[in-house]
Amino acid sequence: MPKSSEEATKKLAKLLIENPKSKVIFMVGAGISTSCGIPDFRSPNTGLYHNLSKLNLPYAEAVFDIDFFKETPKPFYMLASELYPGKFKPSKFHLLMKLFQDKNRLHRIYSQNIDTLERESGICPEYVIEAHGSFAENICIECNRLYKRDVFKNKLKEYEKNPKDENLARCEECDGLVKPNIVFFGEDLPRRFFENWDSDLEEMEEEGSKEQLIVVVAGTSLTVYPFASLPIEVPKTHHRSLINREIVGDFLQEPRKSDIIIKSHSDEAAQIIAEELGWTTELDTLMEEFGILETVVAVKDELESISKGLNDLTIKDENGTITKKNNQELRKCTSEASNGSDKSNGDHITNVKDEAMPTK
Ligand code: OAD
Repeated sequence: MPKSSEEATKKLAKLLIENPKSKVIFMVGAGISTSCGIPDFRSPNTGLYHNLSKLNLPYAEAVFDIDFFKETPKPFYMLASELYPGKFKPSKFHLLMKLFQDKNRLHRIYSQNIDTLERESGICPEYVIEAHGSFAENICIECNRLYKRDVFKNKLKEYEKNPKDENLARCEECDGLVKPNIVFFGEDLPRRFFENWDSDLEEMEEEGSKEQLIVVVAGTSLTVYPFASLPIEVPKTHHRSLINREIVGDFLQEPRKSDIIIKSHSDEAAQIIAEELGWTTELDTLMEEFGILETVVAVKDELESISKGLNDLTIKDENGTITKKNNQELRKCTSEASNGSDKSNGDHITNVKDEAMPTK
């Protein structure tokens, strides 16, 4: 880690030490799981979207586009079979967040990740906001009926045995497609995301809360809204820190004097934070419990195998070709299609900043 990043990491740790009652709000993305063997989305060469572009999709993100899925669900099945939770272990950074919980220093984790690794680390669900949903349950995209995890998982197993099988997961009531409850482009974020963020903002706006809540953003390119709005909305009175390989989002566009920028691998930063806070023994114990020390060596192989798996994939419809639709049409919002019980109205995810979360 460069000296300047090491110093910045120690500065963050110092802030935490000097304010022993302070708690952290983490805002995380795919970068905290790359060391678990899960590729992120946008890193050049290794990111999923780079590899998916070889699949003849109209554009890489179409794999998470609800309109595209309705017509061409197979690419998502391919991706899901690569990413399905169960075969991955948490990273050092996940376990550091768990330690924040154990030490009563965790306020909330807003995660864009669908890998459920926060839960796997033993972090209590009430702390974790899975902003883009997860594989944990399934939903019919037509009538919003919820299905248990196995419904999609079993179909995925059938698909893995026979990728030509057209027998997809379908709703018993309306025959609509059933998919994991992951928020696709054009779908709304869970109501829980907005409710918790409103309440956290209120808390940050309270007088005297300045040093009590510290925001740490890690492993995200901050390109997907409304999630990318969160650091923008943090009151200027509060400290924000970014732990990422590159400087992104509001930390780049509207940097604040008090921002603590740690340009590094999230696990390296986690190690230094644990050392500075005197938590190394506990972190090592957790690493051992999860068998992570041995896993690190296997991760490179796993990443290579996922990348190879994606390289070998091809997508064809029944005529052997893929229908290319106008990208604008594919990206258009479908808020009318999402009236589920845990859905908000119209606050769908998008890559465009002007679609940002409504301000209070
Ligand atoms: P991205 O792939 O867009 O960004 C990952 C960021 O993490 C990049 O800035 C990397 O440089 C950085 N990074 C990678 N490995 C790192 C490491 N070990 N340590 C520190 N930084 C690292 O992923 P997200 O921002 O999470 O949507 O993507 C947001 C959303 O876009 C995802 O939730 C997904 C996608 O479309 C859905 O799944 C619906």
